[in-house]
Amino acid sequence: MSAAVLVTGATGTTGGRTAARLLAAGHRVRAASRRAAPVPGADPVRFDWYDDTTHGDALVGTDRVYLVPPVGDPDPAAVMLPFLRRARAAGVRRAVLLSASAVPEGGPAVGQVHRALPELFEEWAVLRPSWFMQNFTGDHAHARSIREDGEILTAAGTGRVGFVDADDIAAVAAHALTGDRAPGTDLVLTGPEALSYDDVAALVTEVTGRPVVHRHLGYQGMRDRLAALLPAEFAALLAGLDRAVAEGAEDRTTDTVRRITGRPPNSLRTVLEREAAPAG
Ligand SMILES: NC(=O)c1ccc[n+]([C@@H]2O[C@H](COP(=O)([O-])OP(=O)(O)OC[C@H]3O[C@@H](n4cnc5c(N)ncnc54)[C@H](OP(=O)(O)O)[C@@H]3O)[C@@H](O)[C@H]2O)c1
Repeated sequence: MSAAVLVTGATGTTGGRTAARLLAAGHRVRAASRRAAPVPGADPVRFDWYDDTTHGDALVGTDRVYLVPPVGDPDPAAVMLPFLRRARAAGVRRAVLLSASAVPEGGPAVGQVHRALPELFEEWAVLRPSWFMQNFTGDHAHARSIREDGEILTAAGTGRVGFVDADDIAAVAAHALTGDRAPGTDLVLTGPEALSYDDVAALVTEVTGRPVVHRHLGYQGMRDRLAALLPAEFAALLAGLDRAVAEGAEDRTTDTVRRITGRPPNSLRTVLEREAAPAG
């Protein structure tokens, strides 16, 4: 039997879509999450970054891994690097890591895992998506405040972001995991255009028919609001990312999705019509 792809974060936004794409293309998938939640067509496996007794089982019969870092951990390398060394020893030859456009190789948090990856695996890729379009449709704080209060709160000002569809991230992940050659580089992924949060609010209003506004907060206002929900350090980090957006850090688009998948990335309008438009 052919080896399987281990997909971590298989119940999440990119892992779920990546597992579905791999299965649709006929690959075997071990779908890892903390409760071994069922994923149709996949072999569910219990996996917790913080419980290394789950790591050996997860790796049985796998030769490739999709890596979603432990969410919100300021030092994911501490748990990821021992796992990756174990994976290599167990026969894994290709690793595709989910990072972020805002985090360069050697940068904080997952940037440290990015730096180590090429030394651990001959076949590798690091996906560095911009902000997800699904932040406005799923269970993310923006999606909730859109639904509950008709507003998006950021410290991003009029800064623009190359928002990307998680489906496009998954399509690139599937290519990177199963293509004849691994990319062997990092891939900055964006959608087709850079939009401000004012633009997003206008589009959500148009597509859903529900008035939505973008409320401009300052860095401190955003940090304090997030700190009510998240650890203070993480709240400051996220507010800082918004401030970087205000300063133009995410105002770019790349041709990576088209180059890797052969088709253009989806627009925010397409994603909103698919995932947020009123039924009927
Ligand atoms: N949202 C954005 O705009 C954006 C932009 C760029 C990059 N990113 C990056 O995307 C990553 C999140 O990826 P995502 O959106 O695909 O995931 P997600 O939807 O946030 O889901 C997280 C996944 O990880 C699993 N998980 C949580 N804690 C775990 C643990 N201790 N051990 C093992 N698995 C665990 C969860 O499964 P269970 O709870 O079932 O275990 C779930 O499947 C973050 O690293 C973030 O930096 C996000």
